[in-house]
Amino acid sequence: MVKVYAPASIGNVGVGFDLLGAAVAPVDGSLLGDVIEVRGEAQNDFELSVIGQFKAYLPQDPKDNVVYQCCHYYRDALQAKMPNQQWPFLALELDKRLPVGSGLGSSATSIVAALVALNEYYGQAFERFELLEMMGHFEAKLSGSLHYDNVAPCFLGGIQLMTEDEQICRALPVPEQWYWVMAYSGISVSTKMARDVLPQTLSLATAKAYARNLAAFVDALHQGLYQRAAGFITDVVAEPHRIGLLPGFAEVRQQLLAQGAVACGISGSGPTVFTVADSLQKAEQFQQVLNQQYLQNERGFCLVCRIDTQGARVLAAAKSE
Ligand code: HSE
Repeated sequence: MVKVYAPASIGNVGVGFDLLGAAVAPVDGSLLGDVIEVRGEAQNDFELSVIGQFKAYLPQDPKDNVVYQCCHYYRDALQAKMPNQQWPFLALELDKRLPVGSGLGSSATSIVAALVALNEYYGQAFERFELLEMMGHFEAKLSGSLHYDNVAPCFLGGIQLMTEDEQICRALPVPEQWYWVMAYSGISVSTKMARDVLPQTLSLATAKAYARNLAAFVDALHQGLYQRAAGFITDVVAEPHRIGLLPGFAEVRQQLLAQGAVACGISGSGPTVFTVADSLQKAEQFQQVLNQQYLQNERGFCLVCRIDTQGARVLAAAKSE
């Protein structure tokens, strides 16, 4: 048996469209992310069962679930790599703990948890970089475009900058004093739909503003100038086109910034938004504001988080008899 957890993540982090991502963990110690358990071997095919709060929002047939597709993809790759060995099918359980279409990297957590669990069970046949490439492949399949800004932090933890070179990404310094208040409004926005509203080209002025903000943010983090870094968290690429998909966001952000929020932006493709606070007390104050003014229905929630520096991890492992 192997049980793996993969955390929620903030795609873009407001300043690095498709190129920046951060993993988050609630301060109350709860698990904000999916869990996959490999329960043992199966006879003729992979067997996937699904449990959890958000099970109802996934395809009814487990064979349409991305986890099942990850299983076949991984096993095919394993057979191609080591053709002289027999690789059994497995029985797995997905605990779907993240809402779908939330902007919390929901599909990434399923993909990452599945591939890490498979790699653990089958004896770590693939290197981290190879696994990350597989994760990117599935994220692209689901959202229609290859971006690593959810799968990379979900897998590796921390704040990750996509370099898309041989290492794919690099970890950035994590401001220790920042709390990240994550507010999911309760409505669903698919990444594909949120990408369809984006323009295919950027003006020179927008391209320059995007490059300047991201470069200055990364530079300030490396210098440990966190307040200065926060000042560059401005999304000139996606937010102007997506803000109409997020009822109430513009108003609540104005309020949060007036109350001293360090930064505020859309998490991934939304509707979750993040607000950065420089103390737990302020984070809890912002949590109340968001609870009252941003949540749209009973499915919404708001959690005070820190950056999850561990990424995907094995929660339990036991050798079968
Ligand atoms: N970078 C992606 C986007 C994150 O904004 O569309 C969502 O998966």
